[in-house]
Amino acid sequence: MTTTTITTLRLESRFKELKREIIRPENREAVQASWGRLLKALDRKADEISRAGSSYIPEVNWGDIENGGFTEEMTSLIHARGCLIIRDVIDDEQCNQWREDTKKYIKSHPGITGTPRTGVTSNWFIHWSKAQVEARSHPRMVQLMKAVGKLYKNNDPDALLDMDSQVVYADRLRIRYPGRDSTLPLHLDSSSIERWEDEQYRDVYREIFEGRWEDWDPNLIDRRPSANQDLYQGMSSNGSTCSVFRSFQGWLALSDAKPGEGTIWFLPDLKCVLAYILLRPFFDERGNLDLSSAQFPGATPGSGQFMANDRAMFPHLQHDKSVVGIPYVKPGDFVLWHADLLHEVDEEHKGDKESSVVYIAHTPLCPYNIETLKDSRECFESGAKPRDFRYEYDDGPDESSYEDRGREEHLLSLEGKQALGLVPFDVNEEGLTPGQIAVRKMANEAMQGYWSTSQSAPVMQKTSQVE
Ligand SMILES: [Fe+2]
Repeated sequence: MTTTTITTLRLESRFKELKREIIRPENREAVQASWGRLLKALDRKADEISRAGSSYIPEVNWGDIENGGFTEEMTSLIHARGCLIIRDVIDDEQCNQWREDTKKYIKSHPGITGTPRTGVTSNWFIHWSKAQVEARSHPRMVQLMKAVGKLYKNNDPDALLDMDSQVVYADRLRIRYPGRDSTLPLHLDSSSIERWEDEQYRDVYREIFEGRWEDWDPNLIDRRPSANQDLYQGMSSNGSTCSVFRSFQGWLALSDAKPGEGTIWFLPDLKCVLAYILLRPFFDERGNLDLSSAQFPGATPGSGQFMANDRAMFPHLQHDKSVVGIPYVKPGDFVLWHADLLHEVDEEHKGDKESSVVYIAHTPLCPYNIETLKDSRECFESGAKPRDFRYEYDDGPDESSYEDRGREEHLLSLEGKQALGLVPFDVNEEGLTPGQIAVRKMANEAMQGYWSTSQSAPVMQKTSQVE
C-alpha cells in the first residue's frame, strides 16, 4: 500500500477563527444559498461524466496544435474539465530509448530507492537521469509548454509572470510493474490547508467564499503565482507537498497503459468540484452553514489535500460515478492536469508489463519560482536532491556520485538551459508584456552570481526543430 500519509488532522482552534474570517458575516446568506445550487450542479456533473466515461477526458493530436496552438473549442473543453491528453508529442523510438536508459541507470546504481519502501518500487527517487534531463529540455516539450501556458487567461500585462518560460521542477519518475503495490488516493496537488489559510491563495477563490461560485474562473492566472503553497515546508515529508507554483501538472508516457494498469484517474470537472471541496468545511451534515468546528476535511498541514481518509465527508463527489480512468496511452503521449483538479492513481496494476512515465509540470517563471530556479541549478550541477525531496536522503544516496547522470550536454534546447538557470532569459524578445520583461530581468539578476562574466550577456539561438 501507499506510504502517503492521509490521516485527518483535528486542527487547532485557530482554524475555527479562520473559518469566521473566510466566510464574512455579510456573505453568509449568499454562501448558504450557493451551497444548494452547488450540490444540484455536482449531481448533474456526476451523471454527465458517468455517461461519457473515459471519453469525457479531452484529447488532441500533437499535429493539430503544433503550429497554431489549441483551438477555441478545445480550450473551452480544457477550461471546464481541467485535463487533457496530447497524443504523439514525442516519437516512439525516443521514448523507448529513454525508458531503456532509465532502467539501465536504476540497475547500474543499486543504491537508488523509491516508494513503496517495501515490495516492488514504482516511484523512483531519481531526478537527474539523462532521460529526465533530455525529456524536460526536448524542443517538443518546450513547444508544448509554451502552448499550454496560453491556456490560462492573464488580464494583467504588468503581472510579474512569464507563462512562456519554464523553471525546472526536478520531479521523480515512475516505472511501475504489475501487482498491487502502490496507490495515491483521490487528492489535489499544490497544497492542502494553504488554499484556505494563506491570504493570497485564498484570494484565488474569492468568489467561492462570497457565495458566487458560478463567477469563479479557475483559468484566470492573475492571482495564482503569489500564493504561498507550502506554509509548512512539507513537514510531513511524504512527498505530497510542492514548494513551486505549477499551473499544470503532467507526465510523458514512456510505455503503454490502460485504465487499471497503474495509471491515473481524474474527476474531470474544475469549477463545481473545487467549490465543493473549499466550501465543505463550512457546512454540517444537514447542509447548514456551521462555523463552529476547526476541521477542514482532507487538509493536513504539510501534506497534499487527500479526500480518501474522509471519503464519507465528500459524498456529493459521487466517487464511483465521477472518477474516470484516462483512455489508453502510448509512449510519447502527454497527460496534463490543472493545479486544482482531483486525481488518483490505480491501486492495482493489473496489466502484464511496466507502466512508465516522466513527470514534467508546467512551472512558469514568476518571483515565487525563482528560489526553485536557484535550487534546480545547484542540484543539477551537483546531483543533489531538489529541496522538496531532501527527505529521500533517509532512504538512500543522491545522484552526485553517478557519472552517467544527465549533464549540460544533454540539454536539448536553449529554453531547457534557461529553465535550469544556466543561461539568461531573453529580455529583448519581441512581443513580451511589461510583466514578462520585468520577471525575466528579476530572474537574470537573481542568477547573476552563478554566471561567469562571459556568460552574463544573453547568447540567443533558436530552438532547434525536431524532424
Ligand atoms: Fe498528484
